[in-house]
Amino acid sequence: MTGPLSKKRIVLGVTGSIACYKSIDLASKFTQAGAEVDVILTDSATKFVTPLSFKSITHRQVVTNIFDINSELAVNHVALAEQADIFVIAPASANTIAKLANGLSDNALLTSVLATKSPIVIAPAMDANMFENAATQRNVATLMSDGMFIAGPAKGRLASGLTGLGRMVEPRDLVGVTEMVLGKNGDFSGKRIVVSAGGTQEAIDPVRTISNRSSGKMGYAIAEAARNRGATVTLVSAPTALPDLVGVRTIKIESALEMKEVLGEECNDAHSIIMAAAVADWRPVRTLKSKAKKSNKETWKINLTKNPDIIANIDSISSKESGNIVKVGFAAESENIIENSSAKISKKGLDFIVANDITAADSGFSVDTNKVTIIHADGTIEKLPLMSKYEVGNAILDRVKTGLDFK
Ligand code: CTP
Repeated sequence: MTGPLSKKRIVLGVTGSIACYKSIDLASKFTQAGAEVDVILTDSATKFVTPLSFKSITHRQVVTNIFDINSELAVNHVALAEQADIFVIAPASANTIAKLANGLSDNALLTSVLATKSPIVIAPAMDANMFENAATQRNVATLMSDGMFIAGPAKGRLASGLTGLGRMVEPRDLVGVTEMVLGKNGDFSGKRIVVSAGGTQEAIDPVRTISNRSSGKMGYAIAEAARNRGATVTLVSAPTALPDLVGVRTIKIESALEMKEVLGEECNDAHSIIMAAAVADWRPVRTLKSKAKKSNKETWKINLTKNPDIIANIDSISSKESGNIVKVGFAAESENIIENSSAKISKKGLDFIVANDITAADSGFSVDTNKVTIIHADGTIEKLPLMSKYEVGNAILDRVKTGLDFK
């Protein structure tokens, strides 16, 4: 199974900051994602971490000194810059940012940056006062206007013990930023995709809810795949345990009615709605204002009323000049999969439906893989092999794209 960073050539620049320890984790995450990672350390970085740490993880040479004749990469740093798909400088110190803003090239990293045409991601890490300093702000603005992508810094506890804006963005999020920047001119660039995810929760009282087993993984994987193809993505998410996706506008809701309201708004100018959420079919007629005490009852009957069908009520003619919105539904079935799913296409006005057998161990809730059948409005049936949910996301987007070209 291949991901967005598979076989990508990433040059990871590491500069002098205590956040250097996090770049070892970042190098590891890039390598595990299948990227070829070439690390360049500045002199100050080597005071915090060693080249050996990175070499052990990337299994590749690490550049520290441009004049090291024993290092093939150092001698060939221009080739390194030319071959790179992307440069990621993390952590980027105030000093390196200042030098980059002025085009200096007095070390291996700066020289390589000057020589590359690849996109460049900068993850600043420094004391909050240093970041807020007028000179640093001016330099960061220069890098942005030069087309570099500035990730962070994040707010939080700093090495000084104070809290402020200056922490390096977490490695997991930098992986997301790297994927997003690599894909920003992808085939969905200029397209607005709305995805729903998770299982809605219908409140019984302030403590209890009615929900379902959806983990949200499928919807999050679709949102991630769309982001990595250049789309502007809005994710409308029911409660999940999943971390937020960097670069994806996420609106968190709880109930089906909340999801309906938000999606109604968001779909107005969208090119496609991909409805991966598991919407509760019923909600309690009444939500109690205070917690129901168990001492009052041996059994408890809760009256339920039907929730509206959200996707069926989304007008397939969007108000946008782009024309019709491509509507994609999901069908979680445990029997008569094709028959039950096909019926939902016309009932809900879908372009196609993604059906999966929730009783299979490698498909459905909580797992990272899915085996789906895509059924189109014209009756065409495509059975896809077992894939990661991310790959299923891409397969769905391929078909959304065909739908958009057609409409
Ligand atoms: N869906 C929706 N609004 C609802 C129920 C479902 O928009 N109130 C959407 C789901 O997000 C999914 C599709 O409709 O994309 C099919 O959902 P599914 O639960 O399989 O079907 P239901 O319509 O709920 O029918 P049933 O539970 O009887 O199978």
